[in-house]
Amino acid sequence: IDQYAVFGSPIKHSKSPTIHRIFAEQTGQELIYTAQEVTADRFESAVTEFFRLGGQGLNCTVPLKELAWRFADRKTERAESAKAVNTLTLQADGSILGDNTDGIGLVTDLIVNHEVTLNGKKLLILGAGGASRGILSPLFEQQPAWVLVANRTASKAVNLADEFADRGDINGCGFDELAGLSFDVILNATSASLSNDLPPLPEGLLAPNGVCYDLAYGNEPTAFVRWSISHGAASSLDGLGMLVEQAAEAFLIWRGIRPDTAPVIKLLNAER
Ligand code: ATR
Repeated sequence: IDQYAVFGSPIKHSKSPTIHRIFAEQTGQELIYTAQEVTADRFESAVTEFFRLGGQGLNCTVPLKELAWRFADRKTERAESAKAVNTLTLQADGSILGDNTDGIGLVTDLIVNHEVTLNGKKLLILGAGGASRGILSPLFEQQPAWVLVANRTASKAVNLADEFADRGDINGCGFDELAGLSFDVILNATSASLSNDLPPLPEGLLAPNGVCYDLAYGNEPTAFVRWSISHGAASSLDGLGMLVEQAAEAFLIWRGIRPDTAPVIKLLNAER
């Protein structure tokens, strides 16, 4: 039986085994998918062991995505531009291919599940770390009018914007430079969300009918989702849909079939 897993730390509350179990049932595939607590210092030996013992594919989450990017023998274009890998796949020749399905997962959740248009829109991304880098390439494929990356450390946002300058209209700035600006879609990609913290955001930042999306998710609404609701957003979304969609893309890579995500999202939403 084909074996798959997710490595990360902390991993105890990972929903990935549940998601992939349902995908497998739904598509009539036989496979095992487990979650394993793996810290950065143990990553290389754990991955090597996993594939040596017959593992077919591996998801990597916090804090291992950059290590996975370094570990992969070859990488897809989107993984290369993200400088992070969340999906490792054993190839027929024994090599390991690294891919990144996070960005496409976010865009699918926004566009397909929530019918949010990005084309011609003004986008604000909060944060300039790995999560922001991972979504920029798929976001630009939707041809937004302008992308601004705002970060606590302004220089990191400016550098990230420079790196993607050939993709479209993009700038970087600090949070103190947001006053007076307004955006159709605001994406929170800071890790502040995980500690229920929120970057300082000025009034008027969200355009009328604007949409907010927190890449993080929790059983309770995140600080950013609460900010979004209290500022009258048309939609206040968190990253649960993105989680399921990135998993569906990994499942597609591994099994050649894309599962139906809607019932899985519905189930996970009912459980919280
Ligand atoms: P990830 O892979 O989750 O993106 P990361 O690469 O460490 O993690 O990036 C974390 C991001 O969250 C950064 O943009 C960070 O801002 P700095 O570059 O200034 O460190 C941002 N961040 C973390 N804690 C924050 C907080 N309390 N307020 C605002 N931004 C925060």
